[in-house]
Amino acid sequence: MKNHEEKLLREKLSDSLRKKRYEHSLGVCEESVRMAKEFGADRDKAFVAGLLHDCAKCLTKTETDELIKKYDIELDSMTKQCEPVMHAPLGAVVAEHEYGIKDAEILDAIRYHTVARKGMSLLEKIVYVADMTEPHRDYPGVDELRKASKKDIDEAYAIAVKCSLIHNINKGSVIHPNTLEAWNDICEGGKGK
Ligand SMILES: [Fe+2]
Ligand SMILES: [Fe+2]
Repeated sequence: MKNHEEKLLREKLSDSLRKKRYEHSLGVCEESVRMAKEFGADRDKAFVAGLLHDCAKCLTKTETDELIKKYDIELDSMTKQCEPVMHAPLGAVVAEHEYGIKDAEILDAIRYHTVARKGMSLLEKIVYVADMTEPHRDYPGVDELRKASKKDIDEAYAIAVKCSLIHNINKGSVIHPNTLEAWNDICEGGKGK
């Protein structure tokens, strides 16, 4: 990927996100690229997926409704009720139609970065973990996760899913069925695609 192409993506993204969200996205992009090099994933795909993973995070309610109508987006009932989850599938649509990203692997890494799924690809795991380890993140357990993300992506991914489950249970939130399937897959030794 050429430098000017990366710059264009960054500029377009910075226009559509609040400052903190944009800085988080740069952090996830950097972490994704680092892990791609470490674990043998495609560097450019990791760059784009990491950078754009939250591209639909700062949409207003009206913009979200318009987007769903315009692209005839189908969301499962749990995602529809859950605004913090919705920006991931919507992000995949925005990345495709507004940033011109056609690569299915990149779009899936954006689509599943909040709830995960059974059989995550290496790129999907990288973006999922990077979202929780980028330098601005600070929560109990982040150091353990950062350490694992430097050694073993499967171990890091398992810790990340576990953290997310515990966090949601402690908050009294519902757990998306995809996350439960992802966890069961990990327990059964599924290494993903
Ligand atoms: Fe997100
Ligand atoms: Fe994020």
